[in-house]
Amino acid sequence: MNIAFLNGSYLPLEEARISPLDRGFLFGDGIYEVVPSYGGKMVGFAPHIQRMNDGLDAIGIKFDWSESDWGDLCNQLIKKNGSGNLGIYLHVTRGADSKRFHGFSENITPTVFAFAFEIAPAPVADKTLAKKFKVSSSKDLRWDRCQIKSTSLLGNVLHFQQGQDQGNDETLLFNADNQLTEASSCNAYIVKDSVVITPPLDNQLLPGITRQILLDILRNDGSIKVEERPVSMHEVKNADEVWITSSSKEIGAVVEIDGLPVGNGEVGDIWLAAQTLYSAAKHNY
Ligand code: PDD
Repeated sequence: MNIAFLNGSYLPLEEARISPLDRGFLFGDGIYEVVPSYGGKMVGFAPHIQRMNDGLDAIGIKFDWSESDWGDLCNQLIKKNGSGNLGIYLHVTRGADSKRFHGFSENITPTVFAFAFEIAPAPVADKTLAKKFKVSSSKDLRWDRCQIKSTSLLGNVLHFQQGQDQGNDETLLFNADNQLTEASSCNAYIVKDSVVITPPLDNQLLPGITRQILLDILRNDGSIKVEERPVSMHEVKNADEVWITSSSKEIGAVVEIDGLPVGNGEVGDIWLAAQTLYSAAKHNY
């Protein structure tokens, strides 16, 4: 049975109920997080909670749980749902109002919902076992505040589905200047001449925690050069390797974009080196 958390109580997920006037339901007015956990050990817990607090501040939801309150909740969900490979989903909305009104109400209590779901085992650093991602590309049609991990995900959902409808796993997104932003549910990178290059953090992309951890690991190790700078569509098309990262995937090797091979169409050597370093050091975060 999947045990969830809703507004102070643990209960079977299928019994969890919210008001249809919850602003998360009506407006997507909320913030969420997904924290990966393997064998009961979370990866990047503190930065995930920091990003959640940043998001709540950015949209003016006053909610003051401490890091240890969130830690207790996550550990309870792990305990109650078995300690396999879990994504811990955390979600705070502005709360349920008594009417539908766009403006913020002063006197409503935020809704807190959390549950655990199974994720794939962490990738092992082995080219023959690596999942080979195929992606579409598209103009990025989302909003100008993609740094906020908002539950309003329709733009991302439509871009993700665009890739699925073309038989692909994801969609790489490009801004009006044909520069790479990210993918619909992942950050994006190219590798050229053994240098890992990823777009800089700004309003066009989510500050991914996997990205933060990966860049830190690579910089500490020092054997692979890292650059954060704009990446043109031309560079993506001519890259030796392309990667996507997210909490439930770690580093995903992209071998095909719009039906054309990336580099030699195989999982690359720099992916192998980076995933090896990531697998070894991720539990330090
Ligand atoms: N997606 N960019 C977008 C738009 C995302 O939705 C995500 C994560 C990322 C990667 O962030 P992180 O490394 O912190 O997981 C980048 C999550 C997993 C989701 O929505 O399910």
